[in-house]
Amino acid sequence: MRDIAQVVTGSRAIDGAGVHLVRVLGLPTTKAFDPFLMLDAFDSTDPRDYIKGFPWHPHRGIETVTYLQKGHIIHSDSLGNSGDIRDGGCQWMTAGSGIMHQEMPQASERMLGLQLWLNLPASDKMTPPKYNDIRDEDVQVVTQEGVSVRVIAGEYEGTKGVMNGDHVKMTMLDIALAPGASFSMKTPRDETLFVYLTRGSGLFGPQQQALEEKRAVLFGEGDSVSFTAGENGLDLMLFMARPLHEPIAWGGPIVMNTREELKKAFDELDEGTFIKV
Ligand code: FE2
Repeated sequence: MRDIAQVVTGSRAIDGAGVHLVRVLGLPTTKAFDPFLMLDAFDSTDPRDYIKGFPWHPHRGIETVTYLQKGHIIHSDSLGNSGDIRDGGCQWMTAGSGIMHQEMPQASERMLGLQLWLNLPASDKMTPPKYNDIRDEDVQVVTQEGVSVRVIAGEYEGTKGVMNGDHVKMTMLDIALAPGASFSMKTPRDETLFVYLTRGSGLFGPQQQALEEKRAVLFGEGDSVSFTAGENGLDLMLFMARPLHEPIAWGGPIVMNTREELKKAFDELDEGTFIKV
């Protein structure tokens, strides 16, 4: 059984044009959490925390996966896509060779969700950009006693997610446990696996370590993972993917393998040649 390798609480940050969020994963965690680069979590009932949004900005070399448990975000990009992410919806954007986009949260009763940055392998950093919209009704739900699992990407108990990951195969599950309910699943031994506790508390790993909401738990290698919800239940997101073991050169919204590639990206932004497609 996988043991706990690291617990991360993250820190409060302001990004975009003034969005208050918690940066859970970032530069300091890239090695341990490979291929997951960044995780921003937001949970607010005050639109002033997020209404300024993330106006037009570039990305290259990564995929961004935005998932809203509650709320509303309007999105548009340089490919001509535009759309809404709403309660239970997810947007999977492959920035690849380069994209410009804006992400504008709309005033909502509660804005609860996260954005994950998934690294692209060196061979796919310059793949043509693309965009996938997953709506709440597209997501299949597996229910067992006291456990409900929304399969967003990958597979769980024979139920396939809407996405699988064209570049890095990722399992992404939104799991809700009733008070005292347990969850366990078999896992490929060497894939990186972490959970982010959205709400509640639970017991994790073979030592049954008690952990509270709003933190990420990285597990070590192993053939299975399991956890049990505390007395108020537990909502968490589970992410799993094979690590890339490649060098990382990270500059703001662009993540490449070398400093030269990073410099080229910023030169192209200056020269207006960044967008290839
Ligand atoms: Fe972005």
